[in-house]
Amino acid sequence: MPGLETKKSCITSRSESETIELGRQIGRLLAPGDVVYLFGDMGTGKTRIAKGLINAATNTPLDDINSPTFTLINRYQGDLAVYHADLYRVEQGELEDIGIEMVEESQGALVVEWAEKVPKLDENALRIHLSHTDDENVRIIVLECPQEGSWSSRLWTRRMSDDEEEAVGRDPYKHEQPYACDGESLCRS
Ligand SMILES: Nc1ncnc2c1ncn2[C@@H]1O[C@H](COP(=O)(O)OP(=O)(O)OP(=O)(O)O)[C@@H](O)[C@H]1O
Ligand SMILES: [Mg+2]
Repeated sequence: MPGLETKKSCITSRSESETIELGRQIGRLLAPGDVVYLFGDMGTGKTRIAKGLINAATNTPLDDINSPTFTLINRYQGDLAVYHADLYRVEQGELEDIGIEMVEESQGALVVEWAEKVPKLDENALRIHLSHTDDENVRIIVLECPQEGSWSSRLWTRRMSDDEEEAVGRDPYKHEQPYACDGESLCRS
């Protein structure tokens, strides 16, 4: 992301269900106006993350969430409207924008597969880069967001000890962060 300092975290997913669970963790943090971009080759798990995310954010059953490859965009309504776009079939340069205004007007959130095709990426978005490894069940997943801003503060919350948690009460933003990062888990790329 030229011009904007970003924070990154690398996560190793060892199964489809771990990837879905990562999506669910992010989905619980989703707020109106959020944009999540998914980058990565075919079969890396973009749809699995999207399923988890939409499931957690809208309560839609996992089986009812499918990649909108032919419709381009699907809408799921829960407490929050989540739009799920898949740009696989879009030619590079064909798209002017991906209906960001529609998402903003409805106070919804947007998750985009094949974000490589988005002509002008939203700098404030959460970017998720997925890649294959030598092991067919293992994926490397990198979360990237601006250093400053709401994604950063939501994702990089330190995991609290049980005592700390009891002292402050259960704050959902500070609880169950599988990727809560300190310097050690930051991606060294
Ligand atoms: N650790 C893992 N995380 C996610 N998917 C995994 C993992 N290990 C194996 N898989 C398998 O990889 C496939 C991922 O498919 P998925 O449709 O989510 O990928 P995708 O990136 O959306 O692909 P496409 O570009 O075709 O849309 C599934 O068949 C899933 O079972
Ligand atoms: Mg997909």
